[in-house]
Amino acid sequence: MSKLAGKVAIITGAAQGIGRGIAELFAKEGAISIIWDVQKDKALDTVASIKNMGYKADFIEGVNITQLDSVERAAKEVMDKYGKIDILVNNAGIVRDASFKKMTSEQWDSVIDVNLTGVFNCAKAVSNYMTEANYGRIVNIASIVGITGNFGQTNYVAAKAGVIGMTKVWGKELGKHNITVNAIAPGPIETDMFATIPEEMRKGMIQQVPVRRLGKPADIANAALFFASDETSFVTGHTMVVDGGATLGG
Ligand SMILES: NC(=O)c1ccc[n+]([C@@H]2O[C@H](COP(=O)([O-])OP(=O)(O)OC[C@H]3O[C@@H](n4cnc5c(N)ncnc54)[C@H](O)[C@@H]3O)[C@@H](O)[C@H]2O)c1
Repeated sequence: MSKLAGKVAIITGAAQGIGRGIAELFAKEGAISIIWDVQKDKALDTVASIKNMGYKADFIEGVNITQLDSVERAAKEVMDKYGKIDILVNNAGIVRDASFKKMTSEQWDSVIDVNLTGVFNCAKAVSNYMTEANYGRIVNIASIVGITGNFGQTNYVAAKAGVIGMTKVWGKELGKHNITVNAIAPGPIETDMFATIPEEMRKGMIQQVPVRRLGKPADIANAALFFASDETSFVTGHTMVVDGGATLGG
């Protein structure tokens, strides 16, 4: 049976990459996948491709997750259109890498705004509706570097470590409303974001992965489905590492 039959799921950053993989899998499992993303054309392309497969998807225009008012308006639009919000996947994210010495305030602010404040904004806008319904699943996409740290990513690591922390707080605060909040910490996944890494460095990174491959968006989508389904109602505040063993070291 479909694991998300009849569920209304919002996935941020689902115009491409990991978010698109999550939107496709959730729709395949019976949910309507609703995309919040700043890239309109690519988001519409994701919606069209999901619909072509015979599943349900929608795009809410004009959402920038860094702006609370934009996210609140979009949450209301989803409520007006579909009557409920069962699932939120906080997936949208950016990188602006530089060594700590060279990192500018602009690089710091932009990554914190999207990757940390954006997650706060979306959960804030949606959790009140979930509380009223006494049901909700929030899945935050963090990163293994939020656990291990990473050269050149002070801003990104701070945001991702913050997301792992917020996941624990919300797990504690929202549990009594039958809302679970979990995070996924992906290792290197083949997307546009990963393509910004130089070829030589990419090859070296694959050698650090025990399963000797990069992850695919589907690998993260499968983990997101696990947390979004009804099967995990007794799991909350948890961060699942999905990295082919990259953080095992050795
Ligand atoms: N790719 C990897 O190797 C990897 C590893 C660990 C974690 N992650 C995390 O997974 C998530 C998805 O990464 P990806 O590789 O698919 O990235 P991506 O760059 O391919 O996609 C990110 C999406 O977020 C959207 N977005 C950016 N800013 C936004 C904003 N202000 N409002 C709404 N949407 C916005 C973009 O338009 C884009 O569609 C991110 O949170 C990223 O940090 C990725």
